[in-house]
Amino acid sequence: MGVLSVIRHSLRPGTAVVLLALSGCAGSSLNQSGGEQPTATAVKIGLLVPLSGVYAPLGEDMRNGFQFYLDQHSGKLGGRTVEIVAADEGEGPQTGVPAAQKLVTQDQATAVVGVVNSATALGLRNFFHESKKLLLIANAGADAITGAQKSDYVWRTSFSNGKVAAALGPAVAKEADGGVYLIAADYAAGKEMIAGFRKTFEAAGGKVAGEKYTPFGKTQDFQPFLSAIRGSGAKAVYSFYAGAEAVSFVKQYRQFGLADNTPLYGTGFLTEGGVLDAQGEAAVGVKTSLHYSTELDTPRNKEFVAAFRKAYNEAPTVYAVQAYDAAAVLDKALANAPGGTGDELVKALGGVGPVDSPRGQWSFDANHDPQQTYYLREVKSSGEAVVNAVAGQLSAAQ
Ligand code: PHB
Repeated sequence: MGVLSVIRHSLRPGTAVVLLALSGCAGSSLNQSGGEQPTATAVKIGLLVPLSGVYAPLGEDMRNGFQFYLDQHSGKLGGRTVEIVAADEGEGPQTGVPAAQKLVTQDQATAVVGVVNSATALGLRNFFHESKKLLLIANAGADAITGAQKSDYVWRTSFSNGKVAAALGPAVAKEADGGVYLIAADYAAGKEMIAGFRKTFEAAGGKVAGEKYTPFGKTQDFQPFLSAIRGSGAKAVYSFYAGAEAVSFVKQYRQFGLADNTPLYGTGFLTEGGVLDAQGEAAVGVKTSLHYSTELDTPRNKEFVAAFRKAYNEAPTVYAVQAYDAAAVLDKALANAPGGTGDELVKALGGVGPVDSPRGQWSFDANHDPQQTYYLREVKSSGEAVVNAVAGQLSAAQ
């Protein structure tokens, strides 16, 4: 056996990432028929998620999801022991791009997984395309990544902004009792979420009462924007916020009194995981579209939620599931990429087939994006906890 060393690497108070490093890689393990076979060398995976800034909690969920898969699979992907090298994406490309470049050029990571922010993903695309290394995006939804700027070397286990938002358009057009106000964080993802929603919403007869983008990562006081919503006479609101901004927005929406008579809709990130815990009762009634809910009533999801809760003492989030699935597809792909080159890996990713995920079965489409089911969710209170109850499935908008 090689010497397995476990390094605890403190990233910020209260969090820790376990890095598995294998020194002296030659060794042996049992193969499927019970015989001895040589152990393949360790594989280094770069994990690029925000460890700081407004999306840091999302990054923590993703680290946990990826680590959870490893823990369930003896720390191996494709039969090779994994060494995780973590780097801080921060709040966008200024921090995220150099951090990813370091993972590839200095740390020699075989692939980089993670990326929360669409602007970071867009900033990284050319570097991975040109260096022919795999970038496996486990959140950032920038539309161009699997559209106009598609690359053989960039794949995604999460969603694209336009699609997850578009899924809710027809339902809101049907339910809203008049014009709908659109509001989002002012950066790539916010703009694309609103555009995706607007397309299917207007096509279904919906009317827009106003549109506003709030400074990303800087807005704590939403009162002026909430006043503008009230002044517009809108009968409902559609929004994109995530992380800390989603907590402030939903709480202030309730405090301001809008929640009483102006239903709030959004993409599911608005009420996901720790964000929903922090919003508490203020979020009750918010309706969203997303490709996951802890409340999905399937044996696969129930088993996953129970095991995740046991390991982390909290429910999994969509971010954890997306990273868990990234580990699952890497597991299959690395088994068919003995040399670990980018070209081998991306060819193998093309053959992974359906993924049996807690979100439901999904597979990569021709643009390397998940083909998946979107769910209509509504925040409900059980008295003890608030959850995203699943109200139905939404037809996937293309
Ligand atoms: C994005 O920037 O693409 C993004 C960030 C946070 C989310 C969803 C999308 O929750």
